Amino acid sequence: MSIIQVHGLQPLKGEIGIQGSKNAVLPMMAASILHKGTVVLTHVPGIQDVYCMKGILEYMGCVCTLEGDRLTIGTDALTDIRIPEKYLKAMRSSIMMLGALLGRCGEAVTCYPGGCSIGRRPIDLHLHALEKLGAQIEERDGVIKATAERLHGGEVNLSFPSVGATENALLAAVLAEGTTVIRGAAREPEITALCSMLNCMGAKVTGGGSDTIWIEGVKTLHDTVFEVPGDRICAGTYLSCIMASQGEAVIKGVCPGQMAAVLQAARQMGAEIKEYENHIAVAMRGRPEAVNLKTEPYPGFPTDLQSPVLSLLAIGKGTGSIRETIFEGRFATALELEKMGARIHLEEESALVTGTYPLKGCTVEAADLRGGAALVVAGLAAQGETTIRNCGHILRGYEDICRDLQKLGANIRRVL
Ligand code: UD1
Repeated sequence: MSIIQVHGLQPLKGEIGIQGSKNAVLPMMAASILHKGTVVLTHVPGIQDVYCMKGILEYMGCVCTLEGDRLTIGTDALTDIRIPEKYLKAMRSSIMMLGALLGRCGEAVTCYPGGCSIGRRPIDLHLHALEKLGAQIEERDGVIKATAERLHGGEVNLSFPSVGATENALLAAVLAEGTTVIRGAAREPEITALCSMLNCMGAKVTGGGSDTIWIEGVKTLHDTVFEVPGDRICAGTYLSCIMASQGEAVIKGVCPGQMAAVLQAARQMGAEIKEYENHIAVAMRGRPEAVNLKTEPYPGFPTDLQSPVLSLLAIGKGTGSIRETIFEGRFATALELEKMGARIHLEEESALVTGTYPLKGCTVEAADLRGGAALVVAGLAAQGETTIRNCGHILRGYEDICRDLQKLGANIRRVL
């Protein structure tokens, strides 16, 4: 079990660079198999989920080389159409292989995916989208088999803008015969990035980043080199860390335009923020002001930053609230924050939080990826030592949270 220890109440100062985006790179890795040849991704984050996706690609016969942050994927020798269960249980994004495998091989076998236990996380919208493109789906004893002699273009209407379902539909549509339109598509920047990458490979995709995406099927793709954008969720996490410590720092390598809802919330909480083309300067003097927030699909406030902001509300002035509308199970971290002295009242999908400062260091348990990071945020505003157990979750999405925060002067270290 990995353990992180934090000594709080030290203002963070300096400059920090942001890793490549987890949620962008994973579907890009899946997209690589649509092509028979070589795809190179740069600015790839060194995180567990990337290693897991690399494992899936290798299992299927791809040749992957990760040198620094440059990942080369050779997809010529792909032979296996099964996504092994051990990877599926470890990472939900493995479901992304379904659309890509169907596109490349006309066949895919998988089972229900894992990932963070933050809610029910069904895949009905993914399967609905693939069926609209001509796939036959059979489900038996938890195993899903998708087949399609030839995928065809179609009209996919998503009743909710699911990020994963939009990506799966996109991947399946790229090599399908004819034109596909995805209505009600997710508008997250990671979708826009995936569309750009697919277009660099020779696909014909328009409308990425809007709620209607058009894909004109092509017969083949070509080799490409593509740079993964900076991780807006990682940037938001470090922004929360700086705010919790009442520090002043510059976050580099992220597009502020993609963080509008987060920066607005940070300003309401009292942060002074300057936006530049590719970086953000933040200064926080005093405790956060209480705010009332609601998570929503992009461009709303991201569910992935709900837990870090819960930690900020826990040390805020007065009573604030956060309503979680995306994943019903995402308040497990509240119970851990309470151990540190936070005053949180949970009511169905909302948390009502009355700030207290400082929190007190103690031993807490990371419940999920972002929840684990939120405990780091809390630890930075706690008296004494906070020991965070089960940090394997954090490693799924952050290259090295200790290294990054140490650069800003935090007293944080991984002890196991
Ligand atoms: C992606 C992100 C995750 C983020 C989430 C929402 C990746 C690798 N992960 O996850 O970090 O928190 O978007 O921004 O990009 N749903 C259904 N049926 C489906 C699919 C989804 O009901 O078939 C529901 C889910 O249960 C959830 C909501 O839709 O309530 C959002 O899920 P979705 O947008 O699909 O999230 P992911 O793609 O899993």
